[in-house]
Amino acid sequence: MATILETRDLCKSFAGYRAIDGVSIDVEEGAIHAIIGPNGAGKTTFFNLLSGFEKPTQGTIALGGHDITGLAPHRISRLGMVRSFQINSIFTHLTVLDNVKVSLESCTELPSRFWLSGSATNRLDARARELLADVGLERERDVVAARLPYGRKRALELAISLAREPRVLLLDEPTAGMAIEDVARVSRTIGRIRTGRTIVLVEHNLSVVSDLSDRITVLQRGKVLVEGTYAQVRDDKRVVDAYLGGGSVHA
Ligand SMILES: Nc1ncnc2c1ncn2[C@@H]1O[C@H](COP(=O)(O)OP(=O)(O)OP(=O)(O)O)[C@@H](O)[C@H]1O
Ligand SMILES: [Mg+2]
Repeated sequence: MATILETRDLCKSFAGYRAIDGVSIDVEEGAIHAIIGPNGAGKTTFFNLLSGFEKPTQGTIALGGHDITGLAPHRISRLGMVRSFQINSIFTHLTVLDNVKVSLESCTELPSRFWLSGSATNRLDARARELLADVGLERERDVVAARLPYGRKRALELAISLAREPRVLLLDEPTAGMAIEDVARVSRTIGRIRTGRTIVLVEHNLSVVSDLSDRITVLQRGKVLVEGTYAQVRDDKRVVDAYLGGGSVHA
């Protein structure tokens, strides 16, 4: 399998504190690659570097073989790496369907006149409905977004991100703050939308990680502690020690 995303010796310091300290990873095209680690390990900082919200102090990031180190977030998103969650991308006064249509329109290169033609509008509508079905929101399509419960808002954010047709989707704690039924639903949704895409997932819920991930990188104090499959990572003594001070990492 080809590598779609790679970091080399990536570092980020905040006032001398190395939040990310020499991280080199390879993400394979088509994989779900999870980044886990204890609180403060640097997971969110790592995502901020990948998506351009923070600039690295040192090191490089390549997407599809092209150096994207230091590019602005909108440029990285145009190159096909899109971050979902922890960004407020929803227009709360619009319906669920219109939110997805706005996202579809905003990422097209076609002149606005094109969209005035009936067939184009229908195509847009059809694609938006498809995306809502992918995230399990088809029944809520006419609901004003502000009225959606929390878990369903996150599903809408996912559909908005998918409308940009990302090659690499960065999911930052997709199940954070969710009730158990919603966690299972999000996990199923991610399993469904992975086709034809690469997903990098930061997630605290280890049962979600074990269900979905092909490969896992464990971060600790800004460094890669261990990398491997869920079974390899789970049974590694260093991971057990890092996580729970001697407890177990079984999900
Ligand atoms: N903007 C910042 N300024 C100063 N320090 C920061 C900044 N952002 C992160 N840090 C520090 O970098 C370290 C890593 O933080 P980060 O948020 O990346 O961890 P995390 O793995 O996402 O943790 P959590 O699991 O709690 O979300 C922490 O010690 C944090 O205090
Ligand atoms: Mg975090």
